[in-house]
Amino acid sequence: MKDHVQSNWSSAILVCRKCSKKVEGGFGPDGDERLAKALRRHLKLKKGRKAAAGIVEVNCLGICPKGAVTVINGAQSREWLLVRPCADLDDLARKLDLLAGEVHPPG
Ligand code: FES
Repeated sequence: MKDHVQSNWSSAILVCRKCSKKVEGGFGPDGDERLAKALRRHLKLKKGRKAAAGIVEVNCLGICPKGAVTVINGAQSREWLLVRPCADLDDLARKLDLLAGEVHPPG
């Protein structure tokens, strides 16, 4: 068995799954998508390790903000973001450094 595998990820973004459930979607064009899915779709990212960046839902991160979702950029792990529903996804992608390198937003 291999001891490692390659990925195309330029960064790994961790999104709290429990926060996402608590805000009941709140993102995407109709405001009914969970943040991780809405961000992946907004940036037209492929799935899995073939994607240019990884956006993955993880278990509770221990912050549990009211009315927001905890998000961590693995490359900037000293500052965690608390993202409110209906946040501008371009703005969020910029804060997460997802607009640099190979990840491009639509349009
Ligand atoms: S529920 Fe999201 S950080 Fe705890």
